Amino acid sequence: MGVRQPVWFDPMENLSAVQIRVPASSANLGPGFDALGLALGLYLRCTLRRSDAGLKVISCGTYTSEIPTDSSNLILRTFSRWAGEQSLDSVHLAIHNEIPLGRGLGSSAAAIVAGLALANEWAGLERSREELIQAATDVEGHPDNVAAAVRGGLVVSCQRDDQRVISTNCSIAPELQIVLVVPECRLSTEAARAALPAAYSRRDAVFNVQRAALLMQAFRDGSRELFAEAMRDRLHQPYRAKLIPGFDEVLQLTNVPGLLGAALSGAGPSVIAFCEARAEEIGDIIAGCFRKHGLNAEARLLKVDHQGVIVERLARVEA
Ligand code: HSE
Repeated sequence: MGVRQPVWFDPMENLSAVQIRVPASSANLGPGFDALGLALGLYLRCTLRRSDAGLKVISCGTYTSEIPTDSSNLILRTFSRWAGEQSLDSVHLAIHNEIPLGRGLGSSAAAIVAGLALANEWAGLERSREELIQAATDVEGHPDNVAAAVRGGLVVSCQRDDQRVISTNCSIAPELQIVLVVPECRLSTEAARAALPAAYSRRDAVFNVQRAALLMQAFRDGSRELFAEAMRDRLHQPYRAKLIPGFDEVLQLTNVPGLLGAALSGAGPSVIAFCEARAEEIGDIIAGCFRKHGLNAEARLLKVDHQGVIVERLARVEA
């Protein structure tokens, strides 16, 4: 985890509270379908306390009305995978969420990572980042968002034939400006994955391999020459565009001064754009593509999160 605390005490006896922070993430980034993820400075914070009054969940922040407060809550469900079902009887979970739900910003990956990271500290398991990524991927089904949420930064990940996840951080030029445009509609990852074909032509596979490889260099040096071509994709965006009014127009935005490239964020409907200047204006232009179709959209400038999941606070019962 980002901040490792020495667990020198018996955690089950003495730990009274754990607070963790997990970043949002944007997956795919154009051609890197199910492989690339970027952690963003927008957070899910969870505090777990010992409770004598049975399970209690409270949530605050934006997008909280849709978060269940019973044991169907995804954070609690993944917490109990590692901490045990019975642990749910004596905890109080406070959720502070800034990550829009169902918009392609890794909200479910953040919830899964949060549950496992809380359990790791609560039960003193001392599981590694790799074990956390693996367990979270087993729940989520693909590694891109969870690997970015755990490691922070720009992360490339893959699954071996036996489903083991391999992931690593890659460089991203610090001067890149990032704008995220979030339309007001929701799109479930399940529906967005169901829209994809079962097989692709060799031409399309080669198209994406070439651009995903190019994109890694574009991120490393922020190269304007590489970006526009490197963010093109033929594996998911053309199919998902049909589900997202206005997204086709976003893809047509070439020659906008300052814009390096734009892509669907994860399964959508949000768009992530990388800019060398004028990020605010570019956000408005992209939001305008959605608004033309009657969809309100909000643009926000974001920074890369380089820490991934961290333990912000551990509290012990005073002796
Ligand atoms: N790689 C995933 C997809 C990310 O595009 O379906 C969404 O969770």
